[in-house]
Amino acid sequence: MRVLVVGSGGREHAICWKLAQSPRVDQLYCAPGNGGIAQVADCVDIKATDVNGMVAWAKDNAMDFVVVAPDDPLALGMVDALEAAGIPAFGPRKNAAIIEASKAFSKELMQKYHIPTARYQTFTDLDAALAYIEAQGAPIVVKADGLALGKGVVVAATVDEAKTAAREMMADKKFGESGSTVVIEECMTGPEVTVLAFADGERVRPMPASQDHKRAFDGNRGPNTGGMGAISPPPQYTPDVARRCMDEIFLPTIQALKAEGRPFQGVIYFGLMLTPQGPRVVEYNARFGDPECQAVLSLLDSDLLDIFLACREGALGQTEIRWKESAACCLVLASGGYPLEYKKGYPIAGLDEAGRSAVVFHAGTAQKDGQTVTNGGRVLGVTALGNTLEQAIENAYAAAKPISFQDMHFRTDIGRAF
Ligand code: AMP
Ligand code: GLY
Repeated sequence: MRVLVVGSGGREHAICWKLAQSPRVDQLYCAPGNGGIAQVADCVDIKATDVNGMVAWAKDNAMDFVVVAPDDPLALGMVDALEAAGIPAFGPRKNAAIIEASKAFSKELMQKYHIPTARYQTFTDLDAALAYIEAQGAPIVVKADGLALGKGVVVAATVDEAKTAAREMMADKKFGESGSTVVIEECMTGPEVTVLAFADGERVRPMPASQDHKRAFDGNRGPNTGGMGAISPPPQYTPDVARRCMDEIFLPTIQALKAEGRPFQGVIYFGLMLTPQGPRVVEYNARFGDPECQAVLSLLDSDLLDIFLACREGALGQTEIRWKESAACCLVLASGGYPLEYKKGYPIAGLDEAGRSAVVFHAGTAQKDGQTVTNGGRVLGVTALGNTLEQAIENAYAAAKPISFQDMHFRTDIGRAF
């Protein structure tokens, strides 16, 4: 089969790396791809959000299957557009991808179907939002409704902080139209875990749980990032918690979306908080998480293309999905200054040596004059396995040792920050 993967980050490198191992994949393409993806796929220079351009290229080049990995093209309806052009695609259609694209929608869905989540209210009027914050008190959480690159959430410790956040989103339009509607919700406590799951519209098959590290610095300090590292599986996600999540969250969510006429086919991301009252949903995403994907797919022992096709065909019930008994750790090496300002174009040393003991997924790299150079905030995701989580973490840090580039930054406490 001729397969195209849409996207350009570490997540897409992991997906391409795994698809390249499938005997059914004859030709693999990635648009736009990056310097590392180019080692396993032919990169095509089309922006991930260019729906018309992507459909036209996929048609002209006779793609048999397209995997849409990032949130933006999913929210724009790229899967619908590909299907309309007769090209089978993996990922939720626009009407199901809305569980990520609109927090107001997903909160309403959870409320209607009694899926455990933080109490909340939705506002389009600033004064009403301010009055609600005043009445509820702090701590309290203020969220922009739409996609805001993971930055539209403020966990406010004081009423003043919450009011400022609401003003910035609703009046100053800090996140553009994403903030015209805000969701204000109860602050939950407890460890956070991610569960990625394959879904075929009716059935849901969870992958091993994982855990992201969103803050830039050790000890969960500093600004929020896309994710500085991930482990799988996290010790807090016990078999008992897993059973509750399946019964109270995963199945009810997939059934709710089906009942609403929005069957979800693709990978669904459950962002969960294990609160003293039980597991609750923090957020849904309509795709693999990054860097969770890099850790979790490293543990997959089955053919990823077979699973993707089964999701599309409603055949997940008959598909074998095997996982290694190991644990995994993905350590992100980032540009100095990320997630704020940083420079690009620095040569990266030590990649070959690191690649002998771990898989080095590229997130933001480019090839320049025969050299791999930095080309983004998150640059690499060094991903290693181990018999135990402790061993996997040690292996990832050991493998990353030879890698260097100017102003390189990473956390030293991935998997140990809790
Ligand atoms: P989100 O974009 O919805 O995932 O939110 C980003 C981060 O904010 C989450 O990973 C949590 O750490 C935190 N957060 C979001 N909602 C809540 C909540 N209701 N209570 C406590 N923390 C939250
Ligand atoms: N790692 C968090 C996300 O992909 O949304």
